[in-house]
Amino acid sequence: MSNSEQIEYWNGEAGERWAREDETMARLLHPVSTALLDHAAIEGCLNALDIGCGGGSQSMMLAARLGPNARVLGLDISEPMLEVAHGKIAGIGEHMADTTFLHADAATHTFETNDFDLIFSRFGVMFFDDPAAAFSNIRKALRSQARLAFSCWQSLQDNDWARIPLRVALQHLPPPEAQDPHAPGPFALADPQRVEAILQASGFRDIAVESFARDIRFGEASTLSKSVRKLVLIGPVGRLIAGQEPDVLERIFTSMEEVLAPYYREGALHLPVAIWFVTATTD
Ligand SMILES: C[S@@+](CC[C@H](N)C(=O)[O-])C[C@H]1O[C@@H](n2cnc3c(N)ncnc32)[C@H](O)[C@@H]1O
Repeated sequence: MSNSEQIEYWNGEAGERWAREDETMARLLHPVSTALLDHAAIEGCLNALDIGCGGGSQSMMLAARLGPNARVLGLDISEPMLEVAHGKIAGIGEHMADTTFLHADAATHTFETNDFDLIFSRFGVMFFDDPAAAFSNIRKALRSQARLAFSCWQSLQDNDWARIPLRVALQHLPPPEAQDPHAPGPFALADPQRVEAILQASGFRDIAVESFARDIRFGEASTLSKSVRKLVLIGPVGRLIAGQEPDVLERIFTSMEEVLAPYYREGALHLPVAIWFVTATTD
């Protein structure tokens, strides 16, 4: 997929769906955000850029963490998600950083200044057609002695929340065409050595890739059946089953309910996630 395909994707049905699910995603990813903010040691940063900010829930957490003397700019290619983000501006309290949002492609946007001291992202940097070119462009927005901190998914095999539903769906569908494992998408930065090479080539230093793993509450709903239908809204299985006939979908969901039943308790599916926390600096 080229960036133009990602722009189409995040402005189409997927972007609308993410916009509708923004509150759910914010709740689901809250533990990841908190851990990433703790891990990134961002205290003292005054001018932050949130790449692929989506509906802005992570930008708001960043703004609360950095405090009233700081500025946060959330940047995204998705208009439906930015609409949700703009709706959050009214809720910015006095204790929070001044926060604005910009519709732009992080890979190609010409940053007017190079005075950001923090580039942050929660799952917003895995969708670049040419990651080294994109990170080089982002690097230009940073001043010296600045920090980069982002989260990205480890491999599909290590992420049961995505692997299990995909495996079950594939039992009912023809095998998909083989895919480039580095193609833009949720798992594009799963290889830590590749991440390191990309960041080095883009001018970053002190690169560290650390693992964060835990169970997360997916698909909060009053029944297993509803929960499974919510889980498939995110991750690669959603793309795979989109447009399938209702009877095929029904068979897929029935199988998923059988396989996922042991993970359903207290109104959600408790599934393991494996994430990389990546940090780096500029000279
Ligand atoms: C998985 S969502 C994460 C959204 C948000 N960070 C969150 O955690 O809720 C990925 C986001 O990256 C954005 N994105 C993808 N490619 C981008 C690019 N080249 N420039 C800016 N944003 C991009 C998408 O529009 C989408 O909002």
